[in-house]
Amino acid sequence: MSVLDKVVAAVTPEPSEKDREETRAKARARSSGNDWLSMVLEHHAGIENAFARVKSANSAASQRMAQKQLAILLTGHSIAEESVLYPAMALSNQKGHSTAAYAEQSAAKVQTAALDTLEPLSQDYFDKLEHLRAAVAHHIHEEEEKWFPELSGLGDTSVQAKLTKRYTEEFERYTRS
Ligand SMILES: [Fe+2]
Repeated sequence: MSVLDKVVAAVTPEPSEKDREETRAKARARSSGNDWLSMVLEHHAGIENAFARVKSANSAASQRMAQKQLAILLTGHSIAEESVLYPAMALSNQKGHSTAAYAEQSAAKVQTAALDTLEPLSQDYFDKLEHLRAAVAHHIHEEEEKWFPELSGLGDTSVQAKLTKRYTEEFERYTRS
């Protein structure tokens, strides 16, 4: 981990497992089971599992393959958020949160690209992977704790249905094979 990475990690401590579970359970309780918030929560869990698969890979080829699957999920999810959910936040009462969300996801995209320059199974690779995982975990927690529960209360059911339709379209446009 670089000095800068360590500084970033120190000022943005990762939420505990218990905090994350409680926050996700509350967010799930706000969702309807088939709306954009449910899909986001499902994608967040998928991203966490994809990180675990990259970490536990036992050959260079399988680690690179797991990394590609993680990158597809991360990119598809982030594009859908950046095209649909963050604009809706910015256009309502969450301009500051929206700006922070874009900045954090831009940083994650740079770190994802950096991972591609490192040798699988090397210490540098695992350090970068852990840095990226912790940054994404922090970002996900911010979304689930405050930003998205607030967005899920915006407007009437037609506003929420439009967000669900557009989030789904954008995610599928990228991840459909
Ligand atoms: Fe997200």
